[in-house]
Amino acid sequence: MFSTSTYQARRRALIDQMPENGIVFLPGNREIGKNYAANVVDFRQDSNFLYYLGLTHRSVDATLDLGTGETTLYGTDATLDDTVWTGPQPTLRELADRCGAERTGNPNELYQLLDQAEVRVHYLPPYHGATQIRLSDYLNLPVEAVPDNASSALTKAVIQQRSHKTTEEIADMERALRTTKLMHETVMRAARPGMREAALAGTVRGLAMAGGGDLAYGIILTRNGQTLHNHHHDNLIQEGDLILGDFGAETAGGYAADITRTFPVSKQFTPEQRDVYQAVLDAENNAIDRCRPGVPYRDIHRAAALDLSQRLADMGLMRGNLEDAVAQGAHALFFPHGLGHMIGLDVHDMEGLGEDHVGYTDKIRRSDQFGTAFLRLGRELEAGFVITVEPGIYFIPELMDQWRGAGKFTDYLNYDAIDRFRDFGGIRIEDNVLITEDGHRVLGDPIAKTVAEVETLRARD
Ligand code: GLY
Ligand code: MN
Ligand code: MN
Repeated sequence: MFSTSTYQARRRALIDQMPENGIVFLPGNREIGKNYAANVVDFRQDSNFLYYLGLTHRSVDATLDLGTGETTLYGTDATLDDTVWTGPQPTLRELADRCGAERTGNPNELYQLLDQAEVRVHYLPPYHGATQIRLSDYLNLPVEAVPDNASSALTKAVIQQRSHKTTEEIADMERALRTTKLMHETVMRAARPGMREAALAGTVRGLAMAGGGDLAYGIILTRNGQTLHNHHHDNLIQEGDLILGDFGAETAGGYAADITRTFPVSKQFTPEQRDVYQAVLDAENNAIDRCRPGVPYRDIHRAAALDLSQRLADMGLMRGNLEDAVAQGAHALFFPHGLGHMIGLDVHDMEGLGEDHVGYTDKIRRSDQFGTAFLRLGRELEAGFVITVEPGIYFIPELMDQWRGAGKFTDYLNYDAIDRFRDFGGIRIEDNVLITEDGHRVLGDPIAKTVAEVETLRARD
């Protein structure tokens, strides 16, 4: 956790931004049973709670009084039984001191405060059913009405604040990237034909834990990289395969890294794999170069789609006027997702607060065209944003067959040539980029990425 003054200043800034009086309620997360109540899934604190309180402890909640400016931390002290089973725990007062909360209260006092009809309670949209039920109980609302009653003023203020990363947050993200570099380069060295994907995924998970934190999201590590978020690790990897690895660590404080690399199981890329790889790499580097304050990310996404289309045309897979092809969405056969998203305490930062609130504005609205509709961030970039840049080229047989059967975009797509790639898989390359006052900085130490760097790691016995 950062220093107490960081959390005090964050809460002060939030309170100053809130236009109305009342109480801001920041619920902490509870443990969730995996298959019965006491066998729990790994605990992860709520990111908004982490941002404003910094405490990773279970079963604590907080309120901010918009009138007095005071923070109250709610919970209960550990019993002797708790101590016997889970070891000595800090008292609620000790936790309150760590985050600078002026007051403490027990869960019943929290209930009494929030249950008063005359008090305006501001809360963020819940994503856990348990939190939704608690809110329903506290606020005397039907469970299904709870998300609709979330405070748009609070949501807006939190997004504004969390979107701009401070120096200490960036340093923590670079700590996550140090572990993530080790995870990726270890796997790039270790993969051998005949291994199961799961063996490599296990190595990744171990390194994330050894780094002091955990995984920031479920591991994608697969020979079927054409499935964008493929969380299965059942396949044997074979000579000639490409492995797409999209995984990252989060620090003990909760900051995420989100990195993708793609490498050949054989010691070298085939000429065909190298061409596609270089096309994705060039598109990624060009997109990173275009990142600076004031540029809509939607425009950088579109430029990357055009870069990829030009290279696909060089390979004989696309044809015609490529600007028109991209405007109509023909490139989405190969690049059906967005160029990137914000990253911070969440890998898709603040997605729980509403992707459109985070990534779009009144002027820049989400497209409804297949492919571009999946772009999570379209708005103008600002200094202090940390974003991912992650173009890819994928050959998805089901999509190819569907589009071909429907006769889609035949002016732009050479289906006979494309069909020869139906077993190719997919390539994505992803880095995490800070927007600076005058441009950008790729965060973390470089992770092997050029063809030569990747093949050098693969060449080791
Ligand atoms: N790791 C998920 C993503 O890149 O969006
Ligand atoms: Mn990403
Ligand atoms: Mn990723």
